[in-house]
Amino acid sequence: MRHIYLNNAATTWPKPQEVPQAVFDFMTRAGANAARGSASERDLKSLDIVFTARARAAKLFGGYAKANAKYVTLTSNVTHSLNIVLRGFLKPGMRAVTTSMEHNSVVRPLRELQEQGVLVDVLQCSLRGYLPSKSLSEALLEKTDLVVMTHCSNVCGSVQPIEEAAEICARRGVPLVVDCAQTGGLLPIDVQELGIAALCFTGHKGLFGPQGTGGIIWNPEFAERCAPLITGGTGSLSHEETQPTLMPDKFEAGTPNLPAIAGLDAALEWLEKTGITAIAAKEEQLGRRLEEGLLSIKGMRLLGAAGDGTPRLPVYAFNVDGMDNGTLARDLSDQYGIESRPGLHCSPLAHRTLGTFPEGALRLSPGYFNTEEEIDYTVQSISELVNRRL
Ligand SMILES: Cc1ncc(COP(=O)(O)O)c(C=O)c1O
Repeated sequence: MRHIYLNNAATTWPKPQEVPQAVFDFMTRAGANAARGSASERDLKSLDIVFTARARAAKLFGGYAKANAKYVTLTSNVTHSLNIVLRGFLKPGMRAVTTSMEHNSVVRPLRELQEQGVLVDVLQCSLRGYLPSKSLSEALLEKTDLVVMTHCSNVCGSVQPIEEAAEICARRGVPLVVDCAQTGGLLPIDVQELGIAALCFTGHKGLFGPQGTGGIIWNPEFAERCAPLITGGTGSLSHEETQPTLMPDKFEAGTPNLPAIAGLDAALEWLEKTGITAIAAKEEQLGRRLEEGLLSIKGMRLLGAAGDGTPRLPVYAFNVDGMDNGTLARDLSDQYGIESRPGLHCSPLAHRTLGTFPEGALRLSPGYFNTEEEIDYTVQSISELVNRRL
């Protein structure tokens, strides 16, 4: 049977060959800890990989980190990044504003903080998954300590007006935290230009790195205002019993996932060579083809924006009248070898917004390594399953 991977919004696959090669090389030929040795050649090589990965991430996302890569914190994923920022900054009595299109990696920490006395306001997005233009400026008329929002929905691909949001937040002096899990490596973002307080990214989606990688690009002043989420050994200032406040050590206690960081470094190098514009163009083309094909299927209910030029990424979720999305996903996988993702996509709030809670939807997310032929085959396969039922 064929094997077609259309779940790139969950994690990109395959990775460029250089990525597993770098992980393998690190584990077989390098393998020393970072900043926790005798400064041997192997120790320095490990440190060098971490420095390079940091610098490449800074180059991609811009900002203060470009001049000084210590303002890049390397984490395990964007969930980890968001937890560092939200729990490190928000205290009881503060007010946080977010949107109704967030992933649980934003919603769950906020709900927990709400239990501890943080005020949380969720701005309602439209039925197509967009934040209405006036709602943020109106919300910020009230005293607000932080805005946190996703750049793009992992359910329906809606891209939020992040430039406008950044401008509104800057005017009010409110720190803006952005979850760029779906846009990192696809849409250009410059943290400093936009005045973002903290950009939280994940390494295993559009950056093509291994799972277990991610990070934060900080505004230095905002980093100072956040407490570390975990404390412990950093390989630095070992005579002190308290966590260093110097960056990047402040937020990086414990041995990092070095093999994965080596892979992330190779992925970022591949990304630089390939170019995010070329990647985005190819994915957009595949997405448009998929969208057209899906819309030609009888009983199709596609979520989000379609065919009207509204900013979106190729993350398509849908239901077909009278069909269960979980069953459809299983049939596509078992009978046609197509991998998709049904259900709620860790985003119950977004599905409530789109009117698909609790049943969820079936999501197809093409990636750079898919082909037009695979998209056509997928549309044909869904049509067959739908027609068989009629
Ligand atoms: C918008 C968004 N935020 C957060 C996450 C969580 O990513 P990770 O599991 O890498 O932390 C995802 C992953 O699906 C996502 O799409």
